[in-house]
Amino acid sequence: MARALSPTWVFAIILVSANLADAIGVNWGTQSSHLIHPSIVVGMLKDNGIKKVKLFDADSWTVSALAGSGIEVMVAIPNNQLVHLSGSYSHAKDWVKENVTKHLYSGGVDIRYVAVGNEPFLTAYNGTYMKPTFPALKNIQKALDEAGVGNKIKATIPLNADVYESASNKPSGGDFRKDMKSLMVQIVQFLHSNDAPFVVNIYPFLSLYLNPNFPFDFAFFDGGSSITDKGVQYSNVFDANYDTLVWTLKKAGVPDLKIIVGENGWPTDGDKNANVQYARKFYDGFFKKMANNKGTPLRPGKLDVYLFSFIDEDMKSIDPGRFERHWGIFRYDGQPKFEIDFTGQGNDKFPVAAKGVQYLPSQWCVLNNDVKNISVVAPDVDYACSNSDCTSLGYGSSCNKLDTRGNISYAFNMYFQMNDQDVQACDFNGLAKRVTQNASQGNCLFPIQIMSAGERLKLGSRAGAVAGFLLILFALL
Ligand SMILES: *[C@@H]1O[C@H](CO)[C@@H](O)[C@H](O)[C@H]1NC(C)=O
Ligand SMILES: *[C@@H]1O[C@H](CO)[C@@H](O)[C@H](O)[C@H]1NC(C)=O
Ligand SMILES: *[C@@H]1O[C@H](CO)[C@@H](O)[C@H](O)[C@H]1NC(C)=O
Ligand SMILES: *[C@@H]1O[C@H](CO)[C@@H](O)[C@H](O)[C@H]1NC(C)=O
Ligand SMILES: *[C@@H]1O[C@H](CO)[C@@H](O)[C@H](O)[C@H]1NC(C)=O
Repeated sequence: MARALSPTWVFAIILVSANLADAIGVNWGTQSSHLIHPSIVVGMLKDNGIKKVKLFDADSWTVSALAGSGIEVMVAIPNNQLVHLSGSYSHAKDWVKENVTKHLYSGGVDIRYVAVGNEPFLTAYNGTYMKPTFPALKNIQKALDEAGVGNKIKATIPLNADVYESASNKPSGGDFRKDMKSLMVQIVQFLHSNDAPFVVNIYPFLSLYLNPNFPFDFAFFDGGSSITDKGVQYSNVFDANYDTLVWTLKKAGVPDLKIIVGENGWPTDGDKNANVQYARKFYDGFFKKMANNKGTPLRPGKLDVYLFSFIDEDMKSIDPGRFERHWGIFRYDGQPKFEIDFTGQGNDKFPVAAKGVQYLPSQWCVLNNDVKNISVVAPDVDYACSNSDCTSLGYGSSCNKLDTRGNISYAFNMYFQMNDQDVQACDFNGLAKRVTQNASQGNCLFPIQIMSAGERLKLGSRAGAVAGFLLILFALL
């Protein structure tokens, strides 16, 4: 028998979906040695009520998995394709045809944005992408328009907050970085004329990480620290940074340009301020803020935000810091790290884990107890770590309390797992051995790798190629 919903319930449901479902998105990056199958990741998104996802490329394996899911998608063009796409309009047309319109059949993928590059104007890139980015943006938007989808699908550029700065250190001092001001003004006016959003990545964690004198409380949303700017009070750096952009856009002549926060989150390992406790504190405060729809002082109302990140990526560059591989709300294997309430009601519980992930056997690689002189091991540890991921061993990290033997075992195990538990990857000239007893110590997890869906895919496509070949043979006979 169908149960009628009472009016209060209907009201509550409408409120929750209006508040949140259309507000929270997540970033789905794939710089991992062992990928979870895309269909499993899409299941995780659905199980956790995530309605929007931002990708870093347009890999058709990933994008296709989102077909029929009802999830809004931002596909992306990696920086290394910008020159190609800026060089010729026909390249952009091909890109849109292969990576956008192909997916737009009924029951297909709900693509809403094309991200042109990823933080292409980072100072660390020394201007490498300064020239091709804007022409590529124009080409892609034109191709979308010509394909008849430009009204619904907008091209934009996800930018790091370092494209603007404030001489006064307050929001009202906001303006584009001097070396790129004229370019940025042209870009934001172009976005405005196409009704496309400005996408900005804002990281309170990095404010804290980069500046030892940064007031700790100001990185979170619980008060305790504030600044005042032209009579407006700011109690967290997220709002202050966002409103610095609002001031910047105003000065560029586009005060009402739509803003999307493309990345925002807190890592759980790899630095003294990167841990589960602070990540939870950050997200709790952030989701509460999202739920009350207050926005920022200068942009009251709903915020549009993608969390960084959904799942850890163990192949990300650690140039910015060891925390880079630990941004996930979920671990490498799709297991949740901490309790959270995406709806901001404070009912924290573990989010729904990945379903159907297959693990390698429960075996670890550790330092052989027979080895007495451990000073001979150093080169092997270096080798193991530089070919796997030892970011959890560093200062302030989850495995920093291990003794020297523990450190060595950790490095050996990470290398062994990275190499899919290949017997030869647990040798190290006889210094290592395989064990079936869980080698984890305290809070320090010695992981067991998963079966990479990437490997299964490679096998699958090889089988597919053979099958295709046979079909052709039969056709010839
Ligand atoms: C479509 O996107 C994929 C993945 O990002 C890329 O490798 C491919 O070159 C793109 N297609 C075209 C025609 O540019
Ligand atoms: C940028 O310049 C610095 C210093 O000259 C150099 O170390 C770095 O490799 C350069 N980065 C890129 C992406 O070109
Ligand atoms: C341990 O090995 C190192 C490097 O081979 C060597 O210099 C040292 O003498 C050895 N120590 C002992 C106690 O054997
Ligand atoms: C373990 O390794 C980490 C990272 O290399 C290092 O900082 C720490 O001092 C090591 N601990 C011991 C006891 O060797
Ligand atoms: C090993 O132990 C750790 C810490 O107790 C635990 O989290 C992990 O699930 C265990 N691994 C396996 C494969 O049992």
